[in-house]
This record gives sequence, C-alpha cells and structure tokens, in this order.
Amino acid sequence: MVTMQKVRKAVFPVAGLGTRFLPATKAIPKEMLTVVDRPVIQYVVDEALQAGIEHLIFVTGRNKGVIEDYFDIQVELSNTLAERGKTAELQLLDELQPRAGKSSFTRQQAPLGLGHAVWCARDLVGNEPFALLLPDMIMQAEKSCLSSMVELYEQSGGGNVISVETCDPKETAKYGIVGRGSEVGSGFRVDGMVEKPKPEDAPSNFFISGRYILQPEIFDILETQERGAGNEIQLTDGMLKLADRQDFYAYHFTGRTFDCGSKEGFIEANVAFALWRADIRDKVRGNLQELMETVEPARR
Ligand code: UTP
Repeated sequence: MVTMQKVRKAVFPVAGLGTRFLPATKAIPKEMLTVVDRPVIQYVVDEALQAGIEHLIFVTGRNKGVIEDYFDIQVELSNTLAERGKTAELQLLDELQPRAGKSSFTRQQAPLGLGHAVWCARDLVGNEPFALLLPDMIMQAEKSCLSSMVELYEQSGGGNVISVETCDPKETAKYGIVGRGSEVGSGFRVDGMVEKPKPEDAPSNFFISGRYILQPEIFDILETQERGAGNEIQLTDGMLKLADRQDFYAYHFTGRTFDCGSKEGFIEANVAFALWRADIRDKVRGNLQELMETVEPARR
C-alpha cells in the first residue's frame, strides 16, 4: 500500500510520429488534427482539467512546436478580435487558456516508445502520483473518465489506477488485458496484466484504454526498461514490474471512446462530437443522412 497524495499533474505524451496519418502528419502533429472545431489535444486537456488536474506536462518531439503555440496566448489575434468587437471568440480563447506557469513542455528527442516518453517527464512530475492521458484516445461522457478514476484512486486509498473497457473476446491479442479481481469502490482490483494475449490465454476481455494514474516509482523502473515489442520502450512492460510491488485498480469506463490515432476512429469522433453539440447537431444529422444514401466509393 502506498500513501495517498493528491493527483495534481497530468502527462500528455505527444511525441509519436503519427505514421497512420501521413501525409498530414508530415507538417501537423496528429494531436492538432481537428475534431469539429478544436484540436484533439484540447479534448484530452479538458478531461484532465475536469478531473481537478492543476499542471499540464507535455512530452513533445520534432515538429510539435505548434502544440506549445496553441496553448500560449496569441497577442496579435486577441488584439484584432478585441478591435473587431468579437467578444464571444475572445471569451472562448480566454476560457481555454492555461494559466501562466501551469503547463510545462519537455522534448523526448527520439520516439523510442511510450515508456520512454513517460520517463522523459520524470523531473517535471517529481515524487508524486500523476495522471497519464494518451491524447490519441478521446472520450465522450458527461462525467470525464479521469474524474471517475480520481474518485476510485481516493476510494482505494492510493495505488495505481487504469481505465479499462471491454473488447470482443476474440480480439484480446490487439490489447493489454487485465484480470478482474475483487470489487473495490467503483472499480476492481487488477489481478494480473498480459500484453496482447491470445483469446485462450486472456484472463478477461478488459483492455487497458489510455488513461492511467501512476505512482512515481514507475520512473525508476522505466529508467532501466529494455526495449520490448516493436523495438520500443513499452509502458506496459514497466507497469507489469510495478504491479509486483504496488496495487493496481481498474475503472471500467462505459462512455464512448474514439481512437483518433486511426482514420476510422478520427472520422467517428468528428461525427460523434458534432452530434453531441446542440448548435450543429440537427444540420449535421440531415447532411450525414443524405451523404450516406448518395455517396458511392470512388472508382480509382
Ligand atoms: P502510438 O504508437 O499510437 O503513436 O502511441 P504514434 O507512433 O504517433 O502513431 P503511429 O502508430 O505512427 O500512427 C500512443 C501515444 O504515445 C505517444 C504518441 O504521440 C501517442 O499519443 N508516443 C508514442 C510518444 O510520445 N513517443 C513515442 O516514442 C511513442
């Protein structure tokens, strides 16, 4: 058992190459691709802020300077909006602006894997538990996934918490799968983690879905973590070692999740978030219906 400290900081690893979105990601980080009218990363930051996170830590890489610019004040733009009396737009920018000193950026230098990206945040996180949000995954729910995880973290008296969702039992080999132990608060104790098991070897069909609350001891483990699958330093390998020493709990998220790292997930996210928005919902719905009935696949 570890002593319970408040979760104040969140890490966003945004240093991946985003090869599935080439050619767009040649010049734009995939986290800046737009879902309706805001970049993917904004949804994930909103989720963290809703859960009470106070400091945002971005692990960036080459070509990712635009993410830092996005979270900064754009003085000329604000001045122009003010001159033109665009108060609603100014207010929106103001609402989304992280306060000075409440965000930090560090570079991964080389995309050696998610485990390595997380390790790069070690000095900025320090000796306290932290949230980790994979910006690829955006979630749609009235109450954010991370808010519910923070509650479970408090109910369980500390430890590590991961979000899980259920997959088709035939598809366990695509995911990190956890075993289901006894119920604890709004979740359950994790009884074993297996990376990409065959269906016959899988302890359940609960897969790890992109949100974590981790204790700082993960950094010592990642420091010496060897490369694993894909020749990358894998976070799951590090978590498996941490699970030998500390408790892990799972929160079963039942809202909608979109994998914006894949084309299909990204398109679905755009449709789902457009339909979620009262201001554009009806128009989009009608247009989609018409498109679904009339658009045929291109012949070339
Ligand atoms: P992915 O493996 O999905 O991202 O990593 P990727 O490598 O950017 O994408 P593809 O597969 O080439 O299209 C999951 C998350 O971890 C981050 C990514 O930015 C993404 O948010 N990541 C991954 C890093 O920050 N550094 C890495 O070395 C690898």
